[in-house]
Amino acid sequence: MTTRPGESVRAAAETADDAPGKPGADTASVVRAYGRMAPVYDFMFGRVLEPGRQRMCQAVRALNLASILEVGVGTGLALGGYPPSARVVGVDVSEQMLARARQRAALWPERDIAMHRIDAEHMPFADHSFDCVTLPYVLSVTPRPARLVQEVRRVCQPGGHILLLNHFSGSRFWWSLERLVKPAAEQVGFRSDFKFADHVLAWDWQVLDVQPVNLFGLSKLVHLRN
Ligand SMILES: C[S@@+](CC[C@H](N)C(=O)[O-])C[C@H]1O[C@@H](n2cnc3c(N)ncnc32)[C@H](O)[C@@H]1O
Repeated sequence: MTTRPGESVRAAAETADDAPGKPGADTASVVRAYGRMAPVYDFMFGRVLEPGRQRMCQAVRALNLASILEVGVGTGLALGGYPPSARVVGVDVSEQMLARARQRAALWPERDIAMHRIDAEHMPFADHSFDCVTLPYVLSVTPRPARLVQEVRRVCQPGGHILLLNHFSGSRFWWSLERLVKPAAEQVGFRSDFKFADHVLAWDWQVLDVQPVNLFGLSKLVHLRN
């Protein structure tokens, strides 16, 4: 049997996806958590995570591609940064978050923006439907990150672009902070222990660029070629 680069690590990540008792281990709890969070989400996570969103959108604009899928679109905070000429599709599991994204999208009636309530671990889109897929702050929230990555890679063009924005666990300094915020973070499905090696390097996509973003470089913007 032939194995692709990163295959064994990726298999380990997929096995970890099935581990019982993890935070946010089912979609229903993500839906509940973000249903409760929707009215205050922009206030709590709007500004603090905005530098990362802006850098992500800047990178997307530079690519000048025709179609963009945003996974975990939330309240639509990144929508204004995408190229106005692109077809944009936003998906999210939370209807309450999406309702706000729809209101935001209505600010640009001339643009081609669609919103769907979809679990991105099982998307109804055909293979290779999008030139670019963005994942702002969703990979560590979804119950099965490896399953989500598989779906994202399936619907993205081969050679297409994937922009991933997330925090990753790592340095000693962040290790202490992560332990402190762990209980609160897990309430909204954020995993405090989320390794770059397991969730980025494990896959055989091409890592084009990695930039630290947000306060103290807490998050990373990762530009990948499918
Ligand atoms: C931390 S919020 C990020 C929202 C937005 N992208 C931003 O930049 O603020 C994570 C979002 O991902 C959504 N989400 C989590 N798992 C998902 C899945 N499997 N499919 C679709 N949406 C998901 C949640 O409902 C929530 O709206």
